[in-house]
Amino acid sequence: MPDPDFVSPYDAIATLYHRAWDDWYLPAVCPALERLFFSELASGARLLDACCGSGHVTRELVHRGFNVTGLDSSASLIAHARQELPDATFVVGDVRDCSFPKPFDGALSTFDSLNHLLTNDDLRAAFRCVRLALRAGAPFFFDMNLEEAYELDLGEWMKYEREGCLGFTRGIYSRATHRARTEIVWFELQGAPVKRDRAFIAPAPNRNQEGTDSLWRRRDAVVEEQCYTVDEIDEALRKAGFSRIDRFSALEAGVSHSIGYGRVFIRAFA
Ligand SMILES: C[S@@+](CC[C@H](N)C(=O)[O-])C[C@H]1O[C@@H](n2cnc3c(N)ncnc32)[C@H](O)[C@@H]1O
Repeated sequence: MPDPDFVSPYDAIATLYHRAWDDWYLPAVCPALERLFFSELASGARLLDACCGSGHVTRELVHRGFNVTGLDSSASLIAHARQELPDATFVVGDVRDCSFPKPFDGALSTFDSLNHLLTNDDLRAAFRCVRLALRAGAPFFFDMNLEEAYELDLGEWMKYEREGCLGFTRGIYSRATHRARTEIVWFELQGAPVKRDRAFIAPAPNRNQEGTDSLWRRRDAVVEEQCYTVDEIDEALRKAGFSRIDRFSALEAGVSHSIGYGRVFIRAFA
């Protein structure tokens, strides 16, 4: 059950997440959203974007004229989303323990957000909250990573660079516990450079002609995900009251990008 003292690991890396992963997932997955989710919705439908992050997918929903509420447990990611998308409503909250005053016409949860729920009970609680937030018959669309995707985690560091940001991530997966752990270390260039007295400081590669240093602030985060089987996901959806559950591989969903490897797309109706 939700921990009242919970601090999202995404808070520490919100700027990196917002900048470094903004143009990666959505373009690859848009055909699946078109084909399997938007096609089920009337124009101007009220949508819940559960675990919306800083709004990379929410942005697409707003641009398409939907009336969107985004929910995420990271206050820092929500702050980015609010700044970029003033026409959407954003709530800081836990998908396992949320409720809304008016029913939605559809809900989605993208980019393996639901793998961040670490037990079957948590997954079921989240599905139940989403089902209760939907009007009868409304679609819920989401994707989750399966074991093939986590088995790509080889413990090697990958580098991400954006202006003023340098980040490194590595994923480690335990086949015994089905738990994946992504370590993130990143550096953000801080404000104005600091002037040094050149007489006492030897030249260094990051010191410029005026004798100023660039200051980089380091942040660390660990994000954990749990790998579920399709049967476990199915059972959790049914126990939460969803019916007509459609399951699609990435290729069936129209996702040919490598981001679809080991990813399952699911549409269930409330
Ligand atoms: C990989 S990100 C995906 C964000 C967004 N859906 C996207 O497509 O860019 C996973 C998100 O799930 C959120 N999250 C994880 N556990 C959550 C929970 N229990 N309740 C709400 N949000 C959660 C994280 O804060 C993070 O923003």
